[in-house]
Amino acid sequence: MSVFPNINAQRLANIPKYLFAELDALKSQYQSETGQDVIDFGEGNPALSPDPQIIRSLISNLKDKENHRYPTYAGKLQARIAVAEWYKKRFGVALDPETEVTMLIGSKEGVAHLIWALIDKDDIAYVPSPAYPVYQNQTMLAGGIPRLMPLLEKNNFLPDLSDIKPHKKLKLLCLNYPNNPTSAVAPYSFYRDIVKTSHKHGFYCFNDNVYSELYYHEPVHSILEIPGAKDCCVEFHSLSKTFSICGWRIGFAVGNKNIIQALLKIKQNVDSGPFGAIQDTAIYALKNIDKFIKSTRAEYEKRLLLLSTGLSNLGMCCPMPDATFYLWTKIPDIQYQKDSLNFACQLLTNTGVLVAPGIGFGKYGEGYVRFAAIVSLRQTKQALQRLAHYKK
Ligand SMILES: Cc1ncc(COP(=O)(O)O)c(C=O)c1O
Repeated sequence: MSVFPNINAQRLANIPKYLFAELDALKSQYQSETGQDVIDFGEGNPALSPDPQIIRSLISNLKDKENHRYPTYAGKLQARIAVAEWYKKRFGVALDPETEVTMLIGSKEGVAHLIWALIDKDDIAYVPSPAYPVYQNQTMLAGGIPRLMPLLEKNNFLPDLSDIKPHKKLKLLCLNYPNNPTSAVAPYSFYRDIVKTSHKHGFYCFNDNVYSELYYHEPVHSILEIPGAKDCCVEFHSLSKTFSICGWRIGFAVGNKNIIQALLKIKQNVDSGPFGAIQDTAIYALKNIDKFIKSTRAEYEKRLLLLSTGLSNLGMCCPMPDATFYLWTKIPDIQYQKDSLNFACQLLTNTGVLVAPGIGFGKYGEGYVRFAAIVSLRQTKQALQRLAHYKK
């Protein structure tokens, strides 16, 4: 018997394995067993190259000696000013860059730390299901109680707000629109109802708005556009998908200054803010966003159209989404009895096409799979051919 104690803290016991790590393992297994390439629609990890001007900006910012020192916790004031200016222009929302904006090492980092900043043992957080797993898992890690809000097709994948019940331990409501994995968009009226409900029951709210610039019709809203939202809400953004720089780790949180301060208090004890050269490049990217976003949007739109038409022709109903780069589609019922993991495994084994099983996004994701339009048009065509061949 080992003299060493159990490695895992008790708080890790209830946390499921991270879905995307599991998918990576499945993918490697297929590749080593068959020697064939996997066409990977599984993870939302864009493979588009950042614009060369963005790369050049980073190279030039690397030459600034100051950028090699520890960054400031909330981020450079110039970066926060650039965020506030973009917010005003894009959403018509005024922000104080000194108190209502903080730079982040990606939205994931910000969401995780915000939950730790707000949630005490047995505090209740409403989390969507299906969802990006971080909301539920971080709530549990912080000792809180996640209450699932089912996102159902019949409700346009919006939570039913009449399910939210007042409770003395109710602290937080987590939202993510445009939504991963369902690609649903929240109308202004929904955000208005959320802000009204949070004032009524007394809880805080965040919207993880990382896909705000990947829309294909009308520009999507910010929750902060609603009068009174700044009393209780913050919003997260990321440069990961907007500028295809996921690996750089840069995002920001904006909104209620007390929530931002609480988030910063955690961050001061955990990290030291994003790399200065990346913040300087973020300033350049945000100031020139119109120049860069059009081609990114156009590329995802083409891929999504090809994929949604192709999958619909194969009998998987898949309307073109209004935003994000995801397609959320029901699996063929009869064969797979709603078992999305089984379906994804069968698909991978028989075609080398990898999709994310809905169950990986929580209980209410079962019966669906998610395609992320992160592979090229050529590979998407190839994947559709493999699927058509398999169907026969
Ligand atoms: C809803 C959602 N939030 C946050 C993230 C992560 O964003 P970042 O790269 O800024 O950490 C993702 C990435 O897939 C996401 O889908």
